[in-house]
Amino acid sequence: MSRFRKDPDPRFWRLNRSIEFDWRLAPYDIDQSQAHARGLLEVGVLSEEELERIDAGLEQVRARMAEPGFEFVDADEDIHMAVERLLGEAIGPLAGKLPTGRSRNDQVATDVAMVVQAHSLRAIELAGATMERLLGLAERHRDWPMPGYTHLQRAQPVYLGHHLLAYFWMLARDVLRFQFALDSASVMPLGSGALAGVNWEIDRRAVADDLGFEHVSANSIDGASNRDFVLDYLAAASACSMHLSRLGSEIVLWSSSEFGFCELDESFSSGSSIMPQKKNPDSAELLRAKSPRVAADYAAVIGMMHALPLTYGKDMQEDKEPLFDAIDTVELCLDATGGMLAGIEFDRERLEAASGDEMLAATEIADLLVRKGVPFREAHGIVGGLVRDAIERGRSLSELTPEELRERSEHLDEAFYEVLRRESWLESKRIEGGTGSEALTDQVELAHATLAAVRARVLEERS
Ligand code: ARG
Repeated sequence: MSRFRKDPDPRFWRLNRSIEFDWRLAPYDIDQSQAHARGLLEVGVLSEEELERIDAGLEQVRARMAEPGFEFVDADEDIHMAVERLLGEAIGPLAGKLPTGRSRNDQVATDVAMVVQAHSLRAIELAGATMERLLGLAERHRDWPMPGYTHLQRAQPVYLGHHLLAYFWMLARDVLRFQFALDSASVMPLGSGALAGVNWEIDRRAVADDLGFEHVSANSIDGASNRDFVLDYLAAASACSMHLSRLGSEIVLWSSSEFGFCELDESFSSGSSIMPQKKNPDSAELLRAKSPRVAADYAAVIGMMHALPLTYGKDMQEDKEPLFDAIDTVELCLDATGGMLAGIEFDRERLEAASGDEMLAATEIADLLVRKGVPFREAHGIVGGLVRDAIERGRSLSELTPEELRERSEHLDEAFYEVLRRESWLESKRIEGGTGSEALTDQVELAHATLAAVRARVLEERS
């Protein structure tokens, strides 16, 4: 019996049905149902014997869904209804006791929070592995000079190790963001019921302990309507994918003949179907291109939640596809980045030749004048004039004569030529966080400590 006399229109059914994508919640839904059943025992809704049958029945459902060729039936609206149906087939009418004290509203919120917890941790683990690769590469290329860029114009020389570590720190911040998502998903909505709480005084904290939640939601209305943890995951995933896109983009440039700074391993490149000579950096291009869709996943969910009246609305069923898409995309990209970096080869000569451009010493010369008491703005203008002289006369800076220098400033003497001898430009960046060798050594040490903390975090969460 039901309130309805009519069957759903097939068009409505297709619109309303979420099993096509929420089947991925199955293991979480079953774990949750087992914990909920234990809660129902405590309040006397289930006997010991009934709890055992439900628990075993849910294990049967888990096994059945894992069977090859298993398919949902047309009447399965979503994963929660499907599990309920399968449990009924396994243990009969007793299955009907399980929905006591639970609504699909707090049930789905709890499943999704469990997904966010699991995959935030997975993202931290994968980011940690990529950080390890970057750190290894940075250590191996610690003292390889290369040009640093702004506006994609050669700006100042840096060590390749220093440049690679920039990505390490981006991922270190991503780890913090995923950690935030994990914490935000560690508040259990179950017990919120449809919106007002339920009539059974189930020990929510015991259920939360059972399921690995740190806290229980303080307000049932918020519990049923909150999807912030999805947004927190998507924000972390967006930032992380954006970072990988910048790395991908640089590798695309660097592996071109024009730059010739690096080469990807064949196993992360592809050929052309028409041009036999081609070796394309597809892996790096795809890192670049996957990122906007993750940001779009964020936009989809925040747009769906925007102005949504409390508490649950069917709109919220639309949180899952973007979430799953972002999970799949960011995990694939992090994993592939690690593999791609494992086989990358840098070309020391090309990097060094590009960083040997004397113009990159312009700031050094300005600072030389500052040391002689010239205000920096004035020094900047003097050096700008020298650069123009050199370009107009078709010479390099060091080919300017002492007389030509003096025309620009009385403070320019032998020290000018000294500064143009190269290593000094890099080694003068002794400041904390700078590219100078000693500062870089400190940075590498800090990176090791940061990585160790990430690893310890993962171990702790997994234990
Ligand atoms: N499939 C639904 C979702 O994903 C489950 C919750 C349904 N709740 C309801 N009141 N109809 O959001």
